[in-house]
Amino acid sequence: MKKRIKNNVYWVGKVDWELRKFHGDEYSTHKGSTYNSYLIQEEKTVLIDTVWSPFAQEFVKNLSEETEIKKIDYIIANHGEVDHSGALPALLEHIPDVPVYCTANAVKSLKGQFHRDWNFQVVKTGDKLDIGNGKELIFVEMQMLHWPDSMATYMTGDNILFSNDAFGQHLATEELFNDLADQCELFGESIKYYANILNPFSGILKKKLGEILALNLDIDIIATSHGVVWRDNPMQIVEKYSQWCDDYQENQISVLYDTMWGGTKRLAERIAEGISMEDPEVKVKVINLAKTDVNDAITEVFKSKSVVIGSPTINRSILHSVAGFINLMGGLGFKKKKAAAFGCYGWSGESVKHICESLEKAGFQVIDEGFKNTWNPNDDRQRDAIEYGRKIAKA
Ligand code: FEO
Repeated sequence: MKKRIKNNVYWVGKVDWELRKFHGDEYSTHKGSTYNSYLIQEEKTVLIDTVWSPFAQEFVKNLSEETEIKKIDYIIANHGEVDHSGALPALLEHIPDVPVYCTANAVKSLKGQFHRDWNFQVVKTGDKLDIGNGKELIFVEMQMLHWPDSMATYMTGDNILFSNDAFGQHLATEELFNDLADQCELFGESIKYYANILNPFSGILKKKLGEILALNLDIDIIATSHGVVWRDNPMQIVEKYSQWCDDYQENQISVLYDTMWGGTKRLAERIAEGISMEDPEVKVKVINLAKTDVNDAITEVFKSKSVVIGSPTINRSILHSVAGFINLMGGLGFKKKKAAAFGCYGWSGESVKHICESLEKAGFQVIDEGFKNTWNPNDDRQRDAIEYGRKIAKA
């Protein structure tokens, strides 16, 4: 059933309560998600984005109960990823000649995925589309936020920014609007989404936010493609993005590790104690990477000013949970964060050196050669680990 956003603008998307993994199995969605599609019924009938492919038939059926499908004049495809374009093939079977407004890169991504030659109308930043009743759609390219094809669409008159993935979050909600959502869940999912999806593009985002603000658009509503519609102080999420894209960090240090027989775990706990003893103000998180959702762990890294990474030595290397996590951190492009390494070993002892090298490659500022311990740490070595924690806090 459609839900009114404002005047003649309606939400016609899908709430996916069951979703627990997104982007294949790369991103955990503990709270489900939504695929937001919007129907504008001015003199022209316009559809902005669709839903993920598995819900295509349901989407077209529901849409046909809200408007005669043949009455749709224009389709806006803000982004080609299938969670928003997935219902286009089913929809366009009914209206194959309807123009699809999108960026030049979206023509490539849509053709590449669906192998159809629809009536694409390529738009660039500043291009306008008259939808009647004195209202227009204005397009803003959002290249690499987060695909080359991404764009946003601004509707004059009602002052709605259809921002697609930007400012979204994976949060299933029946209430739809930000002021009605559980605020803790809303901001928790928003920062996780930023840390795990948008962080690599922070530099581009910083520039783009500046460009959008310079346009001096009146923005009453930000209608994203996932999660809530921001109608209560919509600029609050823009302000959050301004902070997050600027090498964000809180007064937090995270100790992330995996362990085989508990030695490296004991070091993690002692190091955490030392950090806290040295600086009681700093928030310390201790995270076993083999037992923690990786996307939640990445969110803690995003908030941290320093990370301390631990693994015992295995096969002259490190545990795969830690190796995979460092690789993931490297791809996400964190900047201006300090790092240190620790780990136990029995004989060859390569893990700490390996972690230090990997962290440097991943863009972290490694503070020293790390803390190594042979076999299980005895009381003296545990005291040394506390001192090492103090050193990290001072760094
Ligand atoms: Fe929500 Fe990039 O798709």
